Amino acid sequence: MALSHFKGRDFITTRDFTKEDLEFLLDLSSHFKSMFYGGMRKTLRDVLEGRNIALLFKKPSTRTRNSFQVAASRLGALSVYMRPDELQLARGEPIIDTANVLDRYYDGLVIRTFEQAEVEEYARYMKNPVINALTDEEHPCQAMADLLTIIEKKSRLDGLRMVYTGDVWNVCHSLITVAPVFGIDLIIAVPRGYEPLPEIWKFGQDRASRNGTRLEIVHDIREAVKGADIVYANTWWSMGKPEMEKEKRKIDFKPFTVTADIMNLAKEDAIFMHCLPAYRGNEMTTEVIEGKWSVVYDQAENRLWTEAAILAALIS
Ligand code: CP
Ligand code: NVA
Repeated sequence: MALSHFKGRDFITTRDFTKEDLEFLLDLSSHFKSMFYGGMRKTLRDVLEGRNIALLFKKPSTRTRNSFQVAASRLGALSVYMRPDELQLARGEPIIDTANVLDRYYDGLVIRTFEQAEVEEYARYMKNPVINALTDEEHPCQAMADLLTIIEKKSRLDGLRMVYTGDVWNVCHSLITVAPVFGIDLIIAVPRGYEPLPEIWKFGQDRASRNGTRLEIVHDIREAVKGADIVYANTWWSMGKPEMEKEKRKIDFKPFTVTADIMNLAKEDAIFMHCLPAYRGNEMTTEVIEGKWSVVYDQAENRLWTEAAILAALIS
């Protein structure tokens, strides 16, 4: 497979890419990471030299914004970060005009917003690639960094058991789209009443039955983590969720807090993952996120390398 296979494509959901495509991107991510730490910073800068990348973020971000901007810089591209309230969008300029204009200036758009349909709308109007930097529905760039981190820590993906707990939302959905494709058993341990989007669940179930992996929702985290290789936690209350849901969620999710006791039920060499931001005392204790199991900062760093690969493949 060559880089040209990806040129001009959008990265809105991993569902649009084959296992081989995603493997290629993961290999490229490792390659860029090795080049950088192997002292080849200058060579890396040729990859996207002279390119310009726009970032348009409607929700806050620490990792996604910074990792994309530094990834662009390390590949030699310029990136510009914009908030919609600073643009004429705030005064009613339609997406069709904004998208067409940005397309004339930039080689690609990285967008974080609420509706997946809005990202798709930008992609419809733009010839250059549009990359989903998180919607309510998916967080595909996070899933790529998660896969790279697991490969680095476990030297494989196939046959691993991952337990996810936290809001059944973007990050969970994206894990549902990739885990069965790579032979990972994904057990989602959440309170009753928290369900994934039906179309994402169906995609995951189809892949899981085709590939012979497990994809389940359970309500007992202690049972779920037995034999787990990976325990993955996420906030109980995602960005954009109504404030009034917060207290109910705290009560519903309380039995699912990942404690050291729970980590001790997993395999001896189990790792703890979290997309961050993390809320100590809610989805996990401080002892867990700052303890021997945690790989959360490696995971956060890998956002940069997987995004570098995505940018390079789509744009160069
Ligand atoms: N994991 C993640 O997307 O973090 P940010 O919200 O800080 O970008
Ligand atoms: N589910 C979280 C993920 C943040 C990276 C949210 O949407 O707030």
